[in-house]
Amino acid sequence: MSTQTDTDETDVRHFIDVDDLSRDELFAVLDRAAAYKLAQQNGEDHADLAGKTLGMLFQKPSTRTRVSFETGMTQLGGHAIFLGADDIQLGRGEPLKDTSRTLSRYVDAVMARVFKHENIEVLAEYADVPIVNGLTDDAHPCQTLADLLTIREHFGGFEDVSVTWIGDGNNVAQSLVIGCAITGIDLTVVTPPEHAVDEDVIERAAELGETPTTTTDPLEAVEGANVIYTDVWVSMGQEDERDTRLRRFEGFQVNESLLAAADDPVVMHCLPAHRGEEITDDVVESEQSIVFEQAENRLHAQKALLATLVE
Ligand code: CP
Ligand code: NVA
Repeated sequence: MSTQTDTDETDVRHFIDVDDLSRDELFAVLDRAAAYKLAQQNGEDHADLAGKTLGMLFQKPSTRTRVSFETGMTQLGGHAIFLGADDIQLGRGEPLKDTSRTLSRYVDAVMARVFKHENIEVLAEYADVPIVNGLTDDAHPCQTLADLLTIREHFGGFEDVSVTWIGDGNNVAQSLVIGCAITGIDLTVVTPPEHAVDEDVIERAAELGETPTTTTDPLEAVEGANVIYTDVWVSMGQEDERDTRLRRFEGFQVNESLLAAADDPVVMHCLPAHRGEEITDDVVESEQSIVFEQAENRLHAQKALLATLVE
């Protein structure tokens, strides 16, 4: 299991990383997400969280996470409250542990996007309601849920699907490693040596039964891949490292010539994309790109997750 912290006797479930769900639970969430997607497309009522409220705490900006969680709660018959860190007393120094205990008295779940991963653990430690990780410096498990849903839709399952992650071994990559280990997806991670996925993440994946292949050679890594997945080279909070990072990631761009070395892959990106850096504009706009399917699936996957944790 990940770093989930349940401190009380109430059996509250948190979602700090993908392995806070068992394999069966993860598949059940994906099935429920698919059902919600269909229900929404058919205009069918699915107000499973009527009367429930989600608090959404953001220390970093967001488009997809914010809008998909808020819209998801509305579609489930509930309500969401946006809590920008600087708009609440947290921004004036109120401790996270007090924020967590206070929010627990009002809302039915809290989704939080924070810098340090330890901060989401503190929220979870002191909360009496589910805490959902909406991205930390180390993990982005809600993105992985949407990615798995997208891969399953596209390939009809996870067997015989090979995914190559190219670029930074960042938060999105690390949760993807765990998600692929649970679902049995064959994953290769290619990064510059200085930006590999953390060793403890690789160990957790190994414990789940699936160690990704790791390499520093992009051309070798994409050979035979069904999916090529990348993300920005400079994540939120790393702006000071920009120049060094851009130098180190030279040769890791997802462009037409890299795709030619693979076997007609689809291209994934969690977005936002920095076109001209980690990916070219023509690849984002190409037929091979499924980035907006991924973005849409954030909505369906998170509705399923919330309903599972809160109901
Ligand atoms: N992919 C993702 O989490 O996007 P936002 O930063 O816009 O929420
Ligand atoms: N790795 C990126 C993901 C944004 C959704 C970041 O943390 O900024």
